[in-house]
Amino acid sequence: MIICRSQEELETMHRAGMVVWGALTELRKMIRPGVTTIELDEFAEGYAKERGARPAFKGYHGYPRSLCTSINNEVVHGIPSAKRSVKEGDILSMDFGVELDSYFGDAALTVPVGKIDPAHERLLRVTREALERGIDMIRPGNRLTDISAAVQQHVEKNGFSVVREFVGHSIGTKMHEDLQLPNYGEPGHGPKLQKGMVLAIEPMVNIGNAEVRVLDDQWTAVTCDGSDSAHFEHTVAVTENGPWILTRPRDAAGPVW
Ligand code: MF3
Ligand code: CO
Repeated sequence: MIICRSQEELETMHRAGMVVWGALTELRKMIRPGVTTIELDEFAEGYAKERGARPAFKGYHGYPRSLCTSINNEVVHGIPSAKRSVKEGDILSMDFGVELDSYFGDAALTVPVGKIDPAHERLLRVTREALERGIDMIRPGNRLTDISAAVQQHVEKNGFSVVREFVGHSIGTKMHEDLQLPNYGEPGHGPKLQKGMVLAIEPMVNIGNAEVRVLDDQWTAVTCDGSDSAHFEHTVAVTENGPWILTRPRDAAGPVW
């Protein structure tokens, strides 16, 4: 089922999205060698609760924490731990979602820890740009896989691979609504985008090949070839004027993360 949200519902989703954006923006400033992933998780959880929001990941299919923290060759769904800290040269993906007044927001970004090498700088930039290319396809009348194709083309043109096993999704009063949004595929397929639809677009990009596997903790997805991976995500509404990024301030300009 395709759900189109009213202006009022979108305003509520933007409030949820702003809690996600605010938490990730603060988390980004906390990143330095030695910070443990549990400190980041606890900060995110407190940040949401202080604003009347519920961390959406905690308890989702049994996920134990509020934040996902995925380091280097970890692709997504890394579980924060007091035993795990980041070090200079690492890349860290942070994925966070909340429910506020019955509506959800979901976003992610990958950040450098101190100085990272040029190949990793490029991975982060290309993955963020792939999200931007996807967002640029958001307008009424385009089709769902126009987003997928734009993401894939940008990634592969730059010599990286898109992960197939995890996809973007429609979002609203559930974190994952019915539509799945792959980060690969031919343009021109799937439902037509309509005013009021809301999608979480979330490219996951590997330096090496696309294959991933899940560790024995049942959550952490890692690359099979051991190469490093990045993840950027925003929750985006379709408006008659194009995309409205709900996990970001309304007047923001420049790169999406
Ligand atoms: N942002 C992710 C998604 O859209 C993370 C949710 S997985 C969870 O699927 F289990 F941690 F909640
Ligand atoms: Co998501």
